[in-house]
Amino acid sequence: MNKRADSITTASLLGHPAGSLTAVAALFVAAVSGLGVGHARAQVPAAQPGYVEEVPFIVSPDNVTLEMLRIASVGPKDHVIDLGSGDGRIVTTAAKRFGATGLGVEIDPALVEKSRKIAAEAGVANRTEFRIQDLFTTDLSKATVITMYLLPEFNMRLRPAILALKPGTRIVSHDWDMGDWKPDQTTVLSVPDKQVGREKSSKVHFWTVPAQVAGLWCGAGPLGSYSLRLTQKYQEVTGTLQRRERQWPITGRMQGPTLATDETPVGSLVLERDGQALRLSGGKGTVALAKGTSFTAAKGSDCSKA
Ligand SMILES: C[S@@+](CC[C@H](N)C(=O)[O-])C[C@H]1O[C@@H](n2cnc3c(N)ncnc32)[C@H](O)[C@@H]1O
Repeated sequence: MNKRADSITTASLLGHPAGSLTAVAALFVAAVSGLGVGHARAQVPAAQPGYVEEVPFIVSPDNVTLEMLRIASVGPKDHVIDLGSGDGRIVTTAAKRFGATGLGVEIDPALVEKSRKIAAEAGVANRTEFRIQDLFTTDLSKATVITMYLLPEFNMRLRPAILALKPGTRIVSHDWDMGDWKPDQTTVLSVPDKQVGREKSSKVHFWTVPAQVAGLWCGAGPLGSYSLRLTQKYQEVTGTLQRRERQWPITGRMQGPTLATDETPVGSLVLERDGQALRLSGGKGTVALAKGTSFTAAKGSDCSKA
């Protein structure tokens, strides 16, 4: 069964006419309530004219909107893009309460018009923009923060583009996660009048796009006898720090461009991905004393040619 047929069947089973907005809302309800999310798969629209939007307009309540902006530490230097912006409340609040600029992209023209009106009334028309646009064709590169309240399949389809964004870009999703890319933080909020699902609560998930650091890195200068071999799964990093015949296992986490390792017998390290280098910017212990020096990406399978 293809995804479209699957989604229609599930919606119909819930007593809604297939293909109607009500059916679509039922899908959202089914997904939110955890009623066989694996089966109630919404269609992820292809980026082509004439498709039907499959995520209904359901607002993020005020306390959830505020938490989405708080968890991402939104401030005046930020540009917030809300994917599927509904009535524009996230972008308008980001501008009004947190001094950010923002862009809302929304497929429903009436909601875009409403968003512009609300932003003008809030006095933030000059710092906000709302476009009638498919979120899957939106240029995300100017965002410092991306917010979304969509569906799991939408998040998963967006995930490769999000992971390719500038390291440090902050991502917030209301209710839905991104599969095996675990959030850096999740908060749960009470939403007594939640319109969808059995749970009267909402989750707010937060991620920071990690820099890519997997591979072999060769020390220079005072670190000339050291090498670092790293593997990476999203923000989680494991590997080995080696000096001649001695090896120390490394575990650590990326936060944007920064890798902070846990304690090792030779101390902890803080490394910044900086172009083709991993620059030692901090940490504790003997190796961290070489702060300011860098590891560079190996040119071959060992560090003899670095
Ligand atoms: C659940 S609502 C969230 C609204 C708002 N972001 C909020 O949190 O209050 C999702 C919105 O995404 C819009 N949408 C669905 N598919 C879209 C697409 N492909 N491109 C742009 N907007 C889309 C819907 O029209 C709807 O307004």
